[in-house]
Amino acid sequence: MSLTFRWQSPSNIALVKYWGKRDPQLPSNPSISFTLDACHTQTHATFEPGQGIQVLLNGEDAPNFVPKISQFIERIGHRHAWLGDYSLKVDTVNSFPHSSGIASSASGLSALALCVVDAALALGAPLQESDARREASILSRLGSGSASRSVYGGLVVWGATHSVPGSHDEYAVPYPHAVHPMFRTFRDVVMLVDVGQKAVSSTAGHALMERHPFAQQRFNQAHQHLSDLQSILRDGDLMPFLDLVESEALTLHGLMMSSQPSYILMRPNTLHIIEAIRAHRLSTGMPIGFTLDAGANVHVLFPAEVEQKAMDFVKQILAPFTKNGRYIVDQVGTGPVPLTDQAKPK
Ligand code: DP6
Repeated sequence: MSLTFRWQSPSNIALVKYWGKRDPQLPSNPSISFTLDACHTQTHATFEPGQGIQVLLNGEDAPNFVPKISQFIERIGHRHAWLGDYSLKVDTVNSFPHSSGIASSASGLSALALCVVDAALALGAPLQESDARREASILSRLGSGSASRSVYGGLVVWGATHSVPGSHDEYAVPYPHAVHPMFRTFRDVVMLVDVGQKAVSSTAGHALMERHPFAQQRFNQAHQHLSDLQSILRDGDLMPFLDLVESEALTLHGLMMSSQPSYILMRPNTLHIIEAIRAHRLSTGMPIGFTLDAGANVHVLFPAEVEQKAMDFVKQILAPFTKNGRYIVDQVGTGPVPLTDQAKPK
């Protein structure tokens, strides 16, 4: 029997960063992210009795991705033994350009995990709907830690922490506390500073946390930040929110710079953008801030209510620091959606 399932799943941007892990893909500290909207992956996965893995990216054969998918299938095999009897064809399309420097692992692996869970359900796995989403988060995590958070919309927490009831190291959960409505539509404009392959992968970066001199302090700080966010998110305290999120971004890069061996992923234009944002916030009082993922690009964060002025600033002041003036306009999204046949990736 041939089974095909189709999901669109978004990328996400962490506000409190996951940095450091232990086997099997469990986080050293809790993290929280905004699920994105425009940056997503559409995946059609076909399972047929047999063996082998084929990956199509944007309609073209992509053998380079086969090892990553094989590793994923191996890692989830203990939960889904049936996969051993099926071949897999993954037909995947990213909404953002492959060369943009935006990681596709969170959106891509979560989309595939959602397809695997649907296939397991079709084959009779005893999962309720809410268990199915949790299972998708567990599988996503085994593929890539941050992918565990992409299976829900809005604000999502991964990693057990005392201030978030229900939080768990094995799967992500929707943020359970009160959230000011402003954070449901927050904007994220990704300034594409460097679109090449990263010099040091996230996986290698996580490994460097194992013997990092500041590791324990950092892990404690992440718990504290999750707890501090509770009143900030509830009350819509914008300036403290931006301060905390920026401190997380700079801490992440500070950890890279203080690893053994040390490395730097920011580029000169990353700093130019950061300084311009901070100067603008200081001189105008506009609630605009930034975060960084494990790369040189800058995510510019601001509430929808200042969109027009913020976008003028992005276009006039920040865009000249990017590669060919490129940036991606995104915002907080509502999470993955199952696709119908009409929405088959082209
Ligand atoms: C800086 O999830 O890409 O974006 O689990 O090894 O696949 P693996 O790492 P990955 O690490 C993401 C790190 C981060 C912070 C975050 O998303 O929380």
